[in-house]
Amino acid sequence: MNLQALIETAQAMVAGGKGLLAMDESPGTCNRRFEALGIAPSAEMRRAYRELLLSTPELGSCISGVILCDETFGQATAEGTPFVQLARDAGLLVGIKVDTGAKALALRSGEKVTEGLDGLRERLQAYAETGAHFAKWRAVIAVNAVDGGHLPSAACIAANAQALARYAALCQEAGLVPIIEPEVLMTGTHTLAHCQAVTEALLREVFEALTLQGVALEALILKPNMVIAGLAAPTQNTADEVAHATLQCLRRVVPAAVPGITFLSGGQSGELASSRLNALHLRPHTPWPLSFSFARALQHPALDIWDGQDANRAATQKALMHRARCNFAALRGEYSAAMEVR
Ligand code: 13P
Repeated sequence: MNLQALIETAQAMVAGGKGLLAMDESPGTCNRRFEALGIAPSAEMRRAYRELLLSTPELGSCISGVILCDETFGQATAEGTPFVQLARDAGLLVGIKVDTGAKALALRSGEKVTEGLDGLRERLQAYAETGAHFAKWRAVIAVNAVDGGHLPSAACIAANAQALARYAALCQEAGLVPIIEPEVLMTGTHTLAHCQAVTEALLREVFEALTLQGVALEALILKPNMVIAGLAAPTQNTADEVAHATLQCLRRVVPAAVPGITFLSGGQSGELASSRLNALHLRPHTPWPLSFSFARALQHPALDIWDGQDANRAATQKALMHRARCNFAALRGEYSAAMEVR
């Protein structure tokens, strides 16, 4: 393992105040989003959409890297240029989602553990040889603060933390920077304080597991949720309250050695995600660069505008770049709702 090369890649992922474009939805998830808009759920439509995203002019001015799923990783433009090459030629770092999805956790109703460790060493080697710079693995943690529920269980947190740590060790061994994505879901009525407590407990255990497995903290990127009340919670907090709780949580549990934190959007609207990211950057200096690695909050409304029609190509790319520029501004504390009036 060349640790120095890994460290430099991790730093490059958050350099220049840029963020990551997550476009690694599995074929199933992508199909569901297509079908909701009346777009044909075929491999060719998924390929065409990803080609459109990756060939967006000036994407690299706000975006440092892209996360692909296995299907996209092996696809090419209509003219035959492999997507990995297209991204690299555009100056983008290439990431690959390597987990095989969150599956029901045995004996724990309503909870999931992310799978994909079997054969991972060989898969990582192949991705690295084909041009990947980094990898991603997402764990999903459900919160159940009502109806007498007690999620997440310690078992769920432990199982996911261990899987994340074993994945991360294999990534570093293969020369890929691991993105560690432990996501506390926004679904539910839980409060901001509850989300903070769960996120803190989860991240604490994840970093303990990473340390136990010997993972170099200097050569990974953390991709957490922002600390937010559940989507159905009666009280929704201001961007400043979200920023305060998120930073308090992260400062307590994320070692300063970590080279960067890139938030997921988790189902927030594009505007909310940008305004909360902005609020995070109005607060005092943090030990790590804080950035974004959004899928939905970057791709919507671009996907709606595309509507499966090549004629909408330019408008789709414009919408994607708009969200990318809003988030780029947010990383400088320069985003405001005025940017949305176009
Ligand atoms: P969202 O930003 O839509 O939560 O997605 C994050 C992610 O990791 C998708 O792969």
